[in-house]
Amino acid sequence: MDAVRWTRTGTGQGMLPGKLRLIDQTRLPGELVYIETDDRDEIVDAIKRLVVRGAPAIGCAAALGLTAVCQHSGAKSATAFLAEVREHAAVIGAARPTAVNLAWAVNRCVRKLEAGAGDEGRGERVEGKGTGAAAVAALKDALAREALAILDEDMALCRAIGENGVALFEGRKGVGVLTHCNAGALATSDFGTALAPIYAAQERGLAPRVFADETRPLLQGARLTAWELHRAGVDVTLICDNMAAQVMREGRVQMVIVGADRIAANGDTANKIGTYGVAILARHHGIPFYVAAPYSTIDSALAQGSQIPIEQRAADEIRHGFGRLTAPADCKVYNPAFDVTPAELIAGIITERGILRPPYPETIREFMARCGG
Ligand code: MRU
Repeated sequence: MDAVRWTRTGTGQGMLPGKLRLIDQTRLPGELVYIETDDRDEIVDAIKRLVVRGAPAIGCAAALGLTAVCQHSGAKSATAFLAEVREHAAVIGAARPTAVNLAWAVNRCVRKLEAGAGDEGRGERVEGKGTGAAAVAALKDALAREALAILDEDMALCRAIGENGVALFEGRKGVGVLTHCNAGALATSDFGTALAPIYAAQERGLAPRVFADETRPLLQGARLTAWELHRAGVDVTLICDNMAAQVMREGRVQMVIVGADRIAANGDTANKIGTYGVAILARHHGIPFYVAAPYSTIDSALAQGSQIPIEQRAADEIRHGFGRLTAPADCKVYNPAFDVTPAELIAGIITERGILRPPYPETIREFMARCGG
């Protein structure tokens, strides 16, 4: 699935010139439509409106979007170019507050340019490579390569999460899995995080049976998860959010796997609103609740989940739920887009380097140290 890509718009060598290309996820499942852009306001708007959404996908889109915008810079020196990159990165990185991958990706690009490490690792600053136009061209190229590296790395991370998570399915044909929101191929560069072990199990003939919460108010579970799993031939059953308890009581699910937007150093995990409730239900029914995420979703700077900023979204997402008025037009609404599941409800965090288990403060610290963070 190509939810986020770079598309070349010229014939020269290298990646430039080009544009950010996105599947417009607001139009799914009705239409599979792509948009291409190199305009900063359009990129920020696409992230805010959930044209592109899901923590890893918005990180990749932000890095490629930054490249697309900065390639048009008319800066005459490396210093002036870097100042422009920092300004665009700050604006794009602030488009949504909860998923840490967004700021992580643009900051990684900025740091790479600042360090001059784009210069084939010779330790020589890119700025030192010629002056004026030549130095700016080298920086544009370095930015493009870093953004593409983030995209390629995300694909590899998702595959590895799938390979590690599939251990939970081994010897258990037809296991029931409940997931919330969309943490699949559409939410990443490919394959997904929470859905990666499911795709890996399907590839091994283990025929998992997935229950997808529809995920009010914006229906990512119904519009996106059900769509992509169905398209991939995975057995998927859509349920309304308020049916999860009954489905668990009836013994239809043996595990829950969800994605994450930000994981604090103690394992507390922010994910789509409703995830916390699912975790409580899973605990009540003795069903293991797993989070799947790459290192880029872990924010070691935050000690606990209460420090994670929670995005508040427009009231009309709830009042106009299905493209029409579904509540009094002036009805007061509270619309947090995410909630935080306490670490104590999480049986394991499926990462690209294995499944982390409690005590999370220690296992997350060791994991991040191995990732070089
Ligand atoms: O508001 P969204 O659709 O961006 O929310 C997405 C989620 O909550 C996902 O579960 C999370 O970003 C993980 S995506 C691999």
